[in-house]
Amino acid sequence: MEVFSSIETYSKWWKAQPKNLTLGFVPTMGALHQGHVSLIKESKKHSDLTIASIFVNPTQFNDPNDLLKYPRTPEKDIEALHEAGCDVLFMPSSEEIYNNKYNITINPGPSAEILEGSFRPGHFKGVLQIVSKLFNIIRPDIGLFGNKDLQQLQLIKKMVLSLNYQIDIKGVDTVREESGLAMSSRNVRLDSKERDQALQLIKNLNFARQMWEKGEELAKIKSAVKENFGNFGSLKLEYFEAVEPEAFEIVNSREDLNSQVAFCVAAYVGDVRLIDNIVIDN
Ligand code: PAJ
Repeated sequence: MEVFSSIETYSKWWKAQPKNLTLGFVPTMGALHQGHVSLIKESKKHSDLTIASIFVNPTQFNDPNDLLKYPRTPEKDIEALHEAGCDVLFMPSSEEIYNNKYNITINPGPSAEILEGSFRPGHFKGVLQIVSKLFNIIRPDIGLFGNKDLQQLQLIKKMVLSLNYQIDIKGVDTVREESGLAMSSRNVRLDSKERDQALQLIKNLNFARQMWEKGEELAKIKSAVKENFGNFGSLKLEYFEAVEPEAFEIVNSREDLNSQVAFCVAAYVGDVRLIDNIVIDN
């Protein structure tokens, strides 16, 4: 696996590659797990070469403590990428990425203000800033992102359409532990009791699915889930919402949906913030 930390050396390498090769790109913040590995494997199915990036992007962290505590495991990550058959790794420093004072950014629009955006002000502005910079540096044909971060995936699709990036964005299914817990870099910060409590996220998403399939109205589903979380003293629910996944808008009635509904949840388990979602055909 080729490893680059400088934009210039990466660009030289990419320019020297045969022009007909297609490039699949998996941006990450490291502390890699099987969810990230599944993105690499998916990329390998669709492109000649696969490149991953590892960069803990400071501009998307609204909470300085979260940035400070974000797990960093570079040696293990390199091994995991190598094992997954990743061809190239781009692992720049902050200085390499944020190397000028202009800071021109993208306005992510209204669907960045709800859910994650309302609890993490400025988060998606930072995400779109780094993803657009990485797209310009890497120049991939395909970009692969997890459905686990559904709002992020939908915003990146909207950015690509709005700004005419010639990049095909693919969403990849959420990889879960056997227990159902969605894999996340932040899971390493959970102790065994907290891991157990964290299962309330997927349990309540499945509970919502059951109510949905019985034909219950969304308001009833939302209040039932909120009540469940209220009974779990050590969990702090931030939001549980029903969303129209394409437009990424909160919906309050079944009539406002098109072909699918997404249930999205965020909660603190101790001081670890976790998110999850399921998408169901309507
Ligand atoms: P990070 O949290 O490292 O995630 C990198 C990619 O892995 C994202 O596309 C995310 O949705 C996907 N992912 C995370 N957990 C997953 C799981 N359990 N199953 C499948 N895919 C999963 O998301 C980011 O980094 C950053 O915001 C980034 C896009 C790199 C910009 O800094």
